[in-house]
Amino acid sequence: MSANRPHDLGSARTTDQAPPAAVVVLAAGEGTRMKSARPKVLHELCGRSLVGHVLAAARELGPSELAVVVGHAREQVSEHLGAIDPQVRTAVQEEQLGTGHAVRMALTELGAVDGTVVVVCGDTPLLRGQTLRSLVEVHAADGNAVTVLTAEVPDATGYGRIVRDAASGAVSAIVEHKDASAEQRAIREINSGVFAFDGRLLAEGLGRVRRDNSQGEEYLTDVLGILRELGHRVGAAVASDHREIAGINNRVQLAEARRLLNDRVLESAMLSGVTVMDPASTWVDVSVSFGRDVTLLPGTILAGATSVDEGATVGPNSRLTDTRVGEGARVDNTVADGAEVGAGASVGPFAYLRPGTRLGVRAKAGTFVEMKNASVGEGSKVPHLSYVGDATIGEFTNIGAASVFVNYDGESKHHTTVGSYCKTGSDNMFVAPVTVGDGAYTAAGSVITKDVPPGSLAVARGQQRNIPGWVARKRPGSTAAKAAEEASREVSGEGAAE
Ligand code: UD1
Ligand code: CA
Repeated sequence: MSANRPHDLGSARTTDQAPPAAVVVLAAGEGTRMKSARPKVLHELCGRSLVGHVLAAARELGPSELAVVVGHAREQVSEHLGAIDPQVRTAVQEEQLGTGHAVRMALTELGAVDGTVVVVCGDTPLLRGQTLRSLVEVHAADGNAVTVLTAEVPDATGYGRIVRDAASGAVSAIVEHKDASAEQRAIREINSGVFAFDGRLLAEGLGRVRRDNSQGEEYLTDVLGILRELGHRVGAAVASDHREIAGINNRVQLAEARRLLNDRVLESAMLSGVTVMDPASTWVDVSVSFGRDVTLLPGTILAGATSVDEGATVGPNSRLTDTRVGEGARVDNTVADGAEVGAGASVGPFAYLRPGTRLGVRAKAGTFVEMKNASVGEGSKVPHLSYVGDATIGEFTNIGAASVFVNYDGESKHHTTVGSYCKTGSDNMFVAPVTVGDGAYTAAGSVITKDVPPGSLAVARGQQRNIPGWVARKRPGSTAAKAAEEASREVSGEGAAE
C-alpha cells in the first residue's frame, strides 16, 4: 500500500499488532472557554471526565506507558488521574508553550522511547479505542515516522490544515489556522491532534521545532514537516466520522458531545436487546450494563455502576446511580443510589432508595417510600408512605402504610429488626433499637418501643374513649351539631319503622 494514498479508517481492517510503547495525553491547557472553576478535562459526560474517556480509549491499545501532561490546575488534575487510573504517569508542563513543548515534557518524564508513541489530546472524549488501533495499524503497516489522524470537517476554522502534494497526494505539512494562507484555509482536511510517531524520531523532530510562528509556540504539528524534510516517511489516516475527533472547548460543545456519546451508548444497548422507548430523554453512562429484554421508559437516567438484568423495566422518570436491578424487576418513577433491587421486585411509583438498600426477590418498596441501609427479605412489602432506615426486615412480612423506622435519637443511628411473616399495622413508629419477632402483629397507630416476641400482637396506643353528646353541649347550633341531630333522628326513625 502506498503511503501517499490517504487511508480511510472506516475500511481499515484490524489485525493483531504490537501495542505502542507509550501514549501521551495532552492536558495542560486551561480551557478558558469553559468559563469554569473546574479544569476543562475534568468536566463530565456519560459518567466519565473528558480525560477519563481519553484514557479509556488509550488503555484499549495496551500501551507499556501512559503519560498525561498536566499544567493548569495540575494538583486537581493529578489527583483525579490517580483516582481513575493509578498507573498513569504525569509530566508537568509549567508554562503552556505549545503542543510540541508539552510532548517534550512527556518525553523528559518517560525517557527515550523505542517504538510507537501515540499522542492524543485530553479533550476529545468521543475518540474510540478502535480508531486509535486503526491509526497505529496504518502507521506500522506503512512504516511511517509519523502518521497523523485527519478528518474532513464541514467547518475547518481554528484547526491545523493538512497540506498535501498536488501531484502525489502525499501529506507534506500541517499549517495552523493562524499561520495559513487564504488558499490553505480553504482546505477542509484537518489535523485531529492525534498522531502515531516513531519514538526516537519524535524526540529528534521536537529538538528541531522552533517558535517562529504567529503564536510563538512550539508546535507539535511542525514535527511532521521536519521529519519529511529529513527524508522520513510521513502519512495520514482519515477518520471515518469527523465528529469522533471533535475537541471540547466550551459547554455547547460539551452538550453536543454528551448527546453523541449517549446516542452511541443507547445504540449499542438497543442492538444488544434493550428497548429504549425515547432515546432523546434517556441518559445512560458508559459504565452501565444490561441484560436482554430490558425496557427503559422515557426520562430515565442510569449512572455509574448501574446494571439492569434481563426483562426488567425502568422508568418513566427514574434516576438510578450505582444500583443493581434484578431480573424482571419493575422500577417506576424512582430515585435510587447504591441500592440492590432483587429479581421480580417492585419499586415505586415515587420511591427513594438510598445507599445500602437491598430489596430481596419479589420484595416491594411502594409509593412514597424511602429506604436507607435497609434489607428487605424475599416477598416482603413496604407498600405505602413509609420511611425504612437502618432496618432488617425478614421474608414475607407486610409493613402497614405510613410507618416510620425511627432510627435517629438526635445523636446516633439505631437498628430495627422485623422478622419474617409479620403484619405490622398502619402508622406504626418503630423506635430503634427494637426487634419484632417472627410472625408477630402490631396494631395500627402503635409506637413500638419494646421488643415484640414472636407471634405476639403488640398494641401501643391510647385507649379510645367516646363522650356522648359532647358536640350538642359544647358546640350548640353548629353544623356539626345539626348533622349529629339529623343522624340520631334517622337512627330512631328507622328504629320506629321496624
Ligand atoms: C491543535 C493543533 C491543530 C489541531 C487541533 C485539533 C498544534 C500546534 N495545533 O490546535 O493542528 O487541528 O489541535 O484540536 O498542535 N496543550 C498542552 N500544552 C500546551 C498547549 C496545548 O498540554 O502548551 C494541550 C491542550 O490542553 C489541549 C491540546 O494540547 O488538550 C491541544 O491544544 P490547543 O491549544 O487546544 O491546540 P489547538 O490550537 O486547538
Ligand atoms: Ca483545541
